[in-house]
Amino acid sequence: RTFADLYRYKQKVIKGHLFPSFTDFKAIEEMDKLEIRSDDILISSYPRSGTHWAVELVDIIRRDGDIESGSHIHIHDKFRWLEIPREYLKGGVSLADFEGVGSPITDAAAMPSPRLLVTHMGYDLLPEEAKQGRCKTIVVFRNPKSALVSHMHLLNSFSAAYKSLFNMDIMLNGELTETNDKTAWGTWFNFVKGWCSNKDRLRKYVLFIRYEEMVKDMAKVVRDVATFLDKSLTEEKVQTIVDHLSFGNMKKNPSTGDAFQHMKKSVGSDGDTPHMRKGKIDDWKKYMTVKQSERLDAYFGNTLENMGLHFQYE
Ligand code: A3P
Repeated sequence: RTFADLYRYKQKVIKGHLFPSFTDFKAIEEMDKLEIRSDDILISSYPRSGTHWAVELVDIIRRDGDIESGSHIHIHDKFRWLEIPREYLKGGVSLADFEGVGSPITDAAAMPSPRLLVTHMGYDLLPEEAKQGRCKTIVVFRNPKSALVSHMHLLNSFSAAYKSLFNMDIMLNGELTETNDKTAWGTWFNFVKGWCSNKDRLRKYVLFIRYEEMVKDMAKVVRDVATFLDKSLTEEKVQTIVDHLSFGNMKKNPSTGDAFQHMKKSVGSDGDTPHMRKGKIDDWKKYMTVKQSERLDAYFGNTLENMGLHFQYE
């Protein structure tokens, strides 16, 4: 079986990429209609690469490190997801009712500035104005082994009936032997390649951050993001933010610890893996055999290094 076979609900290939049932197909087709504002911040990341971590990071920097002011807001109210309806993320909207929910594009258009917009779509599928660099964009990269392992857990967690149906071979085949129309949002490599091929042209508007660096040296990432967003933070504030963003603190916080708890109600899920599962760089080693890991290494060869990407795997 393939990744696509296992996606049990309706799914659709749009612009050559497979989108799961809970995305708004029409919005993806009409993405160019979304007017981008110059004070928007867009976060683009492949599934399970630290998207919500980056949201919390940007949100807290925008609040100048004032943790209290954002503490009562659920993470899914802090941003608009370009391809997933908010009602769905907030829970209780079943796929059967899906046609009736508001379009993410209309919803984003109604959001007051300054907006935080989020997507798992890579460069190729973004609204045209975002591709041109009308707003600042933060791209999060995570090494492919960790991203695939984390994604496998998420997929299995949506339903107890899925338990272990998405296994490592299926995830690897999705990445290595299939194309963008067989794997959710396209392949990890396609996501990375899309951004890397455009990075020189977009240098002024795009900041690339790494999951692994967030784990190892979050203070540096906080400073980099603050500089990119024209914010100046005292070293004391930087440390407060680093503490706020720690795995332990974010996991304790109900808004971030199980960010998809509401959406799981939409899916009718009885899966039990929390959104914040392990938060480690090397956890993939527990789920990928040496052979599978070597298969991935052999597939990429020097491609990633040649693109200037040196991923840390532990
Ligand atoms: P794991 O499944 O490896 O634990 P996304 O938001 O893109 O879906 O990414 C989810 C992944 O980011 C999960 O990875 C989650 O634990 C990790 N993550 C989120 N917040 C984190 C934090 N504060 N520290 C470390 N990892 C974090």
